[in-house]
Amino acid sequence: MKIIHTLPELRTHLAQFKHPALVPTMGNLHDGHLALIRQAKPLGDVTIASIFVNRLQFAPHEDFDTYPRTLDADCAKLESAGCNVVFAPSEKEFYPEPQTFKVQPPPELADILEGHFRPGFFTGVCTVVLKLFNAVFSEAQGRRVAVFGKKDYQQQMVIRRMVQQLALPIDIVTGDTLRAPDGLALSSRNGYLSADERAEAVQISLALKAMAKALRKGEKDIAALEARALQTLADRGWQPDYLTVRRRHDLHPPQAEDLGTDDLVVLGAARLGKTRLIDNLEV
Ligand code: PAF
Repeated sequence: MKIIHTLPELRTHLAQFKHPALVPTMGNLHDGHLALIRQAKPLGDVTIASIFVNRLQFAPHEDFDTYPRTLDADCAKLESAGCNVVFAPSEKEFYPEPQTFKVQPPPELADILEGHFRPGFFTGVCTVVLKLFNAVFSEAQGRRVAVFGKKDYQQQMVIRRMVQQLALPIDIVTGDTLRAPDGLALSSRNGYLSADERAEAVQISLALKAMAKALRKGEKDIAALEARALQTLADRGWQPDYLTVRRRHDLHPPQAEDLGTDDLVVLGAARLGKTRLIDNLEV
């Protein structure tokens, strides 16, 4: 496995391949990321993982400075999963000057849910992802694939729309969320949880599961369903941002005619102590 830190070296190395498959990450990798690598492998002739903690997608009060940087451990895991190339640029390499050109995703998709609670988040994500695409795919001549996890449900939708609207010649593939045995979605941020918090953390997944079950049983009162779920977590000491039912195709609230269809997803974000967790479940 080759570990590359600069753009020119990346482009030179990738020039010998036609069909790159990219898994963009911020490092601190867990089995969910490795599953994405394994999913990417048969989709290209070279599998690349990028590791870059992207300042642009963190608000000033968020965890950019404390986000774990674990490059050596990450590379060992990537190698064991069959990754061929790690692209881990320094901030100076990737943003040699302040990144003032940015990709502005549409508010109806990017200012709701995560974007409402983390203003500017998807601008930061789209900008870095487009730049990573340009870094990795510039020499490719055939199918180009990028794989994103469904745990960041809104993120993969925003990126799909960016690719579609900007006519980028890249196939976006999504990987299912991996869960711990108790049902907690794997996330780099789970590492922030104390032992007690880790035991409690599964409750966000259970709350979403209960919502999905009620919907499948024919629940029509979405506002009451959401309020119950929020209250359940709040009663247990969480600070929920949202627990909500949305349409899969645009993440907007369902209309009466959407209920009972397979176009529904439940999504949640909540803070447990200092850790903000997100999860979702297609109904
Ligand atoms: O999902 C992530 O880890 C990040 O948002 C991504 C896609 C690597 C962009 O920095």
